[in-house]
Order: sequence, then structure tokens, then C-alpha cells
Amino acid sequence: MKNYLKYDQWKIWEDRFHAEYNEVTESIMSLGNGKFGIRGNFEEKFTGHTLQGSYVAGVWFPDKTRVGWWKNGYPDYFAKVINSVNWIGVDVEVDGAVVNLAEAHILEFHREINLETGTLMRYCTLELAGGKQIRIHTQRFCSISNDRIGQVDFEVQALNFSGKLALVSYLDGDVRNKDSNHDERFWLETGKKTAGDSAALQVRTKPNPFGVPQFDVAVAMQNQVSLLRSSADGSTVHPARITPAEILKEKYTGLKYEKEVAPGEGLSLRKTVCILNSNDYTTGELLAAAQKQVEEAAQNHHLLHEHRNAWKKAWENCDIVIEGDVSAQIGIRFNIFHLLQTYNGTDSRLNIGPKGFTGEKYGGVTYWDTEAYCIPFYLASSDFSVARNLLVYRYNHLPKAIENAKKLGFKDGAALYPMVTMNGEECHNEWEITFEEIHRNGAIAYAIYDYINYTGDEAYLAEYGLEVLIGIARFWAQRVNWSADKQKYVMLGVTGPNEYENNVNNNWYTNYIAVWTLKYTLEAFGKVNNLSAILEKTGFRQEEETARWKDIIEKMYFPADAARNVFLQQDGFLDKELIPVDQLAERPINQKWSWDRILRSCFIKQADVLQGLYFFEDDFDEDTHRRNFDFYEPMTVHESSLSPCVHSILACKLGKTEKAYEMYLRTSRLDLDDYNNDTEDGLHITSMAGTWLSVIKGFAGIRIKNTELEIHPHLPAQWKSLTFRMGTKSGLKEIYIDHEGHRVREI
Ligand code: BGC
Repeated sequence: MKNYLKYDQWKIWEDRFHAEYNEVTESIMSLGNGKFGIRGNFEEKFTGHTLQGSYVAGVWFPDKTRVGWWKNGYPDYFAKVINSVNWIGVDVEVDGAVVNLAEAHILEFHREINLETGTLMRYCTLELAGGKQIRIHTQRFCSISNDRIGQVDFEVQALNFSGKLALVSYLDGDVRNKDSNHDERFWLETGKKTAGDSAALQVRTKPNPFGVPQFDVAVAMQNQVSLLRSSADGSTVHPARITPAEILKEKYTGLKYEKEVAPGEGLSLRKTVCILNSNDYTTGELLAAAQKQVEEAAQNHHLLHEHRNAWKKAWENCDIVIEGDVSAQIGIRFNIFHLLQTYNGTDSRLNIGPKGFTGEKYGGVTYWDTEAYCIPFYLASSDFSVARNLLVYRYNHLPKAIENAKKLGFKDGAALYPMVTMNGEECHNEWEITFEEIHRNGAIAYAIYDYINYTGDEAYLAEYGLEVLIGIARFWAQRVNWSADKQKYVMLGVTGPNEYENNVNNNWYTNYIAVWTLKYTLEAFGKVNNLSAILEKTGFRQEEETARWKDIIEKMYFPADAARNVFLQQDGFLDKELIPVDQLAERPINQKWSWDRILRSCFIKQADVLQGLYFFEDDFDEDTHRRNFDFYEPMTVHESSLSPCVHSILACKLGKTEKAYEMYLRTSRLDLDDYNNDTEDGLHITSMAGTWLSVIKGFAGIRIKNTELEIHPHLPAQWKSLTFRMGTKSGLKEIYIDHEGHRVREI
């Protein structure tokens, strides 16, 4: 756990440079706007520890799957989130020498992200070789009022010398991924233009043998340079006419502005960029479109103001105010901020990657995380169309899910959605996950229920939802088999949400969600007015298929331990040595233990049986919740970021508010405190929705039942009050909770 960052209610900063944690800080200080995003990398040259990351939504590379033992059904490729054109780059030169922040002597340093305004700011004073001192001040943002535009303000000032100062403002497409095999590059240059203070670069992903289209990204920049003078009365900026020198290299275009300066003088650069990609434009029109849009944006003096206003508006309805606990307050705001930066719901081709725009790990963007964790956040905090778009995304991938199931031997329209995907195709290539972690299919069905329960939009079933449900239900009906021994249906060879057990039989959660899907799909038949058209389209053999579904519903096997009166995570769970986590000497076990030792242990990576109790809480009484929580929580190591939030919600429900608070801090400050020692790879974006859930469903005790709001709060002792807004079918509501009670106000 790291404790080097400072914070108040809205800002997070470091007031000296922690080179050893730079990659962690870069993750935390990432900016994005749903369309593109960038890690908190430095603008100027830095050869120290860094993960360079500039990402464009919907732009990726299919990299060949490399495994020693090929298994039939493996996907051919792994989807890489690729590092794209570096658009923030500004090199500083002092008397011809490029300043490298990693080599300079840092006299003063401050880097700060402001969650209220969506801006990243930094100033530092550096001493260079020969004792020359310069001061750098930068600010940047990815506009959320115009999601094609980003802007960097970069100032450098000579403090104690006269000499030549230069700024090189550049676009660099010669970038690599940290996870690339053999240092491979993924980009080819396809276009470049320079004119006066503007320049543009277009790059295209390399060809691939998998039939995945190549993507083009065009970035145009417009620079505005001024002369900076500072005196005892403060700094002034004067327009300067400096004709830039062009620097052209393969996949790179730069403009160099040079000036003789005296002490106190410097250069001030405003760099506006426009980032477009071939998902929205033809490759032929990209470059010109980017140039045109950047020109307009650079002339818009209200760009920052509009961006800040858009954030103000976003916070009006999405903020959660926790009175009396700054650490919890910044924790939740940090999570909401990054969720809003990652996905804005305007494009149903996009989804929410576990790392968003903050890192490259995890390949692919869409996991079950979206349906199981993120949908409730977007339902409550955005227009309902945002959550609907996330569902439509899966509807559009239904043919691929059917194809995916077919590859594995399923038939008749059974659909298996991928564990990880970009375009509907499976991209995960570990057999125990690709083939076995099939519970993800259930979460996709559950999200349809969740959405309709929240919004009342039953028409969604007729338009899209029922077809998806039929595909998933068919998969479950084929995936189970009859056990003559048990005289029950069983599901063999699966991996549940707890990935620390593979190839187990009868994972309780998976069996439960499978049966639930069958029941819900049968119910849904009665809720559409175009049933015969859907049955015809899906080739549904009504009598035969529904008879089998009903038989499975009636005769499914659910492992349980009669003595303890708990559900069993899987058939063999009680054969394990049951040891509580607090007796573990080494943690996290995924970094300390061999994989086989983990698999044989009782330690649970993330909520599994408890995930089922959380989803289907009304099916079980409080004692059942309590017994299962008391049994599983002590064995859960929470080494998935998706885990503590579920435990926090259940703990609240059971009146274990202190436990809930401990779990809440763990989820909300997971990245800020780097609990799992992996924030340097990027933030845990999807689990941030879990943090939100733990406040709203946990401490506030909010439930939506058939579009109606219910509230059963359990405020932690540390909090004085909790205030937030949420959209419901009957309108926007503001909810205030304190230790005396709660109020709901219609907005
Ligand atoms: C978790 C999965 C999750 C994935 C992406 C894994 O560590 O076990 O449940 O889908 O991360 O967040």
C-alpha cells in the first residue's frame, strides 16, 4: 500500500517527484473523454520509468495468439489495446540540448489532477547541466464538450540564464506497446501534412491475417506560441511571431519554435489537437477532417470553459457527497470521474475496458464486468439510452456469439458470448477461462433483466432482448447433462467467478444463473407482442425446447453442505483444507504462490457464491445470506478488484457496517493506495462501478424494484451524511441520508 499522494475533496496531487512510483501516478492522473484518453505521461522527454499510453476507443490490433499447446476452439488472435499517436509531446531544448526530466535536478515539482474540472496540471523547476534553471508549467485536458479535441498549455521559462530556448511540439506515431512481442510496432504511416503552425499525421494499423479491418487514426495539431516575460509584478504573455522549423521523420511530425531569451523570459505554447479515426470517417477524408476541426477548435477561446462546464453539469447529477470523511469522499469521486471519462454511451460500438484509457493490460475491452458491475452505474447516473446502448452492443454481437458456441460444438442457435472481446469474437486464450468461465453468459442475460427492472422499458425485449435471451438459454440447455447417479442435471468442467479454481463441477453460481436465465426467458415470452416473429427468426422449436428448459429448471443440481447449511462453491469444495485468510503469511497469493498451490487451496479470488446471493438476493432469506457470508468471507482474498464491493454490499445488508466500511475503502481506494500492487498497469475501471455500487446499494441501501425506489440505509459511523442524485423512471431524485433518517427530493 502506497501513501505518497495528497488529496482534498476534489484534487489529487504529489508535491515532489516520486520517480519510483511514476507509473502508478501516470495511471491515476489519466485523462479521457470516452473517445480517446491518455495516461498522465510527461509532455517533455523523460527516460525514467514510464508506461507511455495514448489510446483511441474502438482502435485495436489483433495479435497472433501464441501458446505452446494449441487447443481446438482457441481464438486465433488476442485483441491488443494499442498505444496510439503521442499527441501531448513537447520537447524543451536549452541551447540545443534536449531537456530530459529524468536527468535534470528537480528543485520543485507539483503534479495535480482536478476531478472537478477534468484537468491535469504540473509545474516544476529544474536545474540542468551548467546550473541553468528553467521552470515548466503545463496544463492539459481531453475535452468532454467536444470529444475529438485535446489541448495542452505548455510554458517554459529561463530563470537564471540568457540563451536559446526552443519548444518542439510534435505528433509521434512511432510508439510501441509494453506488452508487444519482440518489441513489435503496430503502426504504419499513411499521411502527413504541415502548414505554418499546424501539422497532421495519419497512421494505420499493420495488416493482419484474421480479416480484422485495419484502423486509421489521424491527429492534427495547431500551435499558438507566445513570448513569456516575468517580472516582480508577475508574468505577461506577448504574441510572438516565430516561424517554426519543420521536423519530419517516419511516423513523426514536429514544429520547432526557437527564441533567444533573457532571464525571466520564456515561451508559452498552446497545442490544440483533433483526434479522429476510421470508425467514424473514411480513411481518405480523415486527415483533412482532423485539420479542419483542429483549426476551428484552436480559434475557440472558450474551449476550456466549455469543457469545465460540461464537467460541472456531469457532476451535478453524478456526484456523491460524503460528509465527514475526506478519504472516502475523494475515493468515490476518483472512481466516478474515471468511469465518466471512459464511457459516455453515445456509441453502441464501444464498451468499457477494465483499464479504460489508462493502460494496455487485459487485451480487449468487454468483459462480463460491464453487465455485472457497470450497467447499474450508468442506469442511475446517465440517460437510460446509455445503458441501453451497452445492451445493444451485445445484441449486435449475437451472431458472433452463436458462431463462437458453434466452434465449441453447440448447435441450433446456442450463443456463448466471449469472455473478452472487441468485436464479438473471443479474444481470451486460456482454456480454463475461454471454454470454462461461461458464467459470463448469465451476466449478459441478467443485465437485460436489470435494465428492464430499472427502466420499465419492456419493449426492449421485443426489439432486441428476447433474441439474446433465447441464444443464451439454448446454450445452458445444451451445456448441462443428466447425471444418472444424482438423478439431476449437472454442469461439469467450469470455472466460476472465483478464478482460483478451474475445471470444477457444479459451480453453484453458474448452475444458479443458468437456471435463472431459463426461467427469465420463459417469462419473457409472455412479455412481447411479436413472439411468433421472434420464434420464427430464431427457429425456435417451442414445445421441445421449452419442455427441456422446464425439466432443467425442475431438476438442476445445486451443491450444498447440509451440516453448515451453506451452498457449496463447487462439488469438491469441502475436500479442501479450510483455512481463514488471516492465517495466511504471504499475500497476495497470486504473486507469492505457484498456480497449482492456489488451485488446491480454499482461498477465493472474488465473490462467487456471494455474487449469486447479491444478484438474486430476493430468492434467499437473511439467515441464508448470513451463513454463506460468514462461511465464505473469511476465505476470500479479494485479489480481483471486483470482489470487495460485493462483500461490502452484503455486509451492509447483514448490519456488519464496519466490515462493509473496510471493504468499501478497499474498493474505493484500490488504485489510489495501490492495494494490489498493480496500479502501474492502469486503473481498475470496471471495479470503480463496484465502488459506486457499494455506496448506493450498500450504505444507502437503494434498491429499484420494478422501477420503484426503496431505501434501507446503513451509514458508517465515520460518515455524517451522504447525498447523491439518481435518475429513475419517475424522474431525477436527490437522496439525503444521515444517522437520523433520509429524505428524497424530486429534482
Ligand atoms: C477477474 C474477472 C474480470 C477480469 C477483468 C479478472 O481478474 O477475475 O472476473 O472479468 O479480471 O476485470
